[in-house]
Amino acid sequence: MSEKKNEKLWGGRFQDAADPLMEAFTQSVSYDQLLANFDIAGSKAHASMLRAVGLLNEEEFAAIDKGLDTIGEKIGKGEFTFDPKKEDVHMNIESALKEMIGTPAGKLHTGRSRNDQIALDERLYLCYAVSCMQVYIRNMQSALVLLADKNSDVIIPGFTHLQYAMPVLASHHLLAYVEMLDRDFGRFSDQFSRLLRSMPLGAGALAGSGLPLDRELVAEKLGFHSVAHNSMDAVGDRDCLLEFLSACSICAMHLSRMAEDLILWMSQPFSFIDIADRFCTGSSLMPQKKNPDILEIVRGKTGRVYGDLVALLTVTKGLPMSYDRDLQEDKEPVFDAAETLFSSLRILAAMLPTVTFKRDNCASAVKDSFLLATDWTDYLVRKGVPFREAHGLVGQAVALAVGKGCGLTSLTKEDLSGISPLMDEGILEISSAEQSVKAKKTLGSTNPEMVRREIDEWKKFLVEEQKRYTGNSEN
Ligand code: ARG
Repeated sequence: MSEKKNEKLWGGRFQDAADPLMEAFTQSVSYDQLLANFDIAGSKAHASMLRAVGLLNEEEFAAIDKGLDTIGEKIGKGEFTFDPKKEDVHMNIESALKEMIGTPAGKLHTGRSRNDQIALDERLYLCYAVSCMQVYIRNMQSALVLLADKNSDVIIPGFTHLQYAMPVLASHHLLAYVEMLDRDFGRFSDQFSRLLRSMPLGAGALAGSGLPLDRELVAEKLGFHSVAHNSMDAVGDRDCLLEFLSACSICAMHLSRMAEDLILWMSQPFSFIDIADRFCTGSSLMPQKKNPDILEIVRGKTGRVYGDLVALLTVTKGLPMSYDRDLQEDKEPVFDAAETLFSSLRILAAMLPTVTFKRDNCASAVKDSFLLATDWTDYLVRKGVPFREAHGLVGQAVALAVGKGCGLTSLTKEDLSGISPLMDEGILEISSAEQSVKAKKTLGSTNPEMVRREIDEWKKFLVEEQKRYTGNSEN
């Protein structure tokens, strides 16, 4: 018998030892070690199923199970050394098990391939990442709602096309992000329920297994609702990672838009808010500067998250069924997007409570009476003037005021009656931003009573959510 030249777990058919360049290029353990705990959980469920179907005896199972626990503890304490020569997290753990318990370790991989193993590990990781994301989203919503609550009476100009449009409550503006984040939360929830429907283990390399594996038992042990129905899909599909990255991208986009608003609001031409010094940075050259760098970095990191999504879409687009090693490239974008978004949500939730509204500046900004033009139109419509005609009449008043270099509400009775007898004195009484927001009638509008109800409902809901996550009614 010739001496074994290749020491890899898969080395049986190889004549040569692996080239170090090949090893360094193909290894994934430098980053997939993040999956170690999930890999161990999956292996423990698999081993316990192998015992149930008689492919492991009691002693073998006990040795494997205990060995895996010990390895998990070592990893947790940072006492485990991952070896790139052993390629990936799966083989590092299996080799360590072999060193620890000897022969029975060789039975752990029965009926399993790394192709279904990695698909499982990634799903378990996603369950964790989605849950964390949801907690961070709720915290961020709470920070926004509290800020809205504290400033519920502040009125600012609302913009469309970044041009003054109509007065809105700053709290209404902030609650818009709470809604957006709530849909983000929902996207992660949808994904979670889909994730739990397709336990991949038992798919083997691609075709299923000739051994009497009980896939449903493994699914049950790991908290899945059912098994993947097609073994080729189970090892080749990365939809769940793509869904995660899509949800992360949309959420990052929302954070970026919010960051942009706050950056504008803090800039000198707006000057609606300030942010505590401890969350701002200075300039190495200009002594007067106080910059909202956190918000700019959050906005910048959004590009990075999109990049992660596009990277994986591109990796997967041309792949023939079923598993291809290209798929190993799926992990870093996912870990990166998750960590990036965690950190953005965390820092924003910490920074938002330090935002203060500069009430005087907001009040003088909404003194711009052109913001009331639509309220004037509504006045005429309520008197029976067809909307288009009302729009035209107020438009003429705007043109007149612009020509005279005064505000809309500085026009005289005579100016207005000169445009139309329908523009009577009553219209001039509509002269403040407070009146404008109060006049809003439709559900979901910036009407202060409605916004108050929204704030109160969100507060109640988020306190309940907090309890659900912490299991603690005091928090
Ligand atoms: N490290 C691999 C990956 O992440 C695990 C699966 C490898 N399978 C294989 N047959 N080489 O995709």
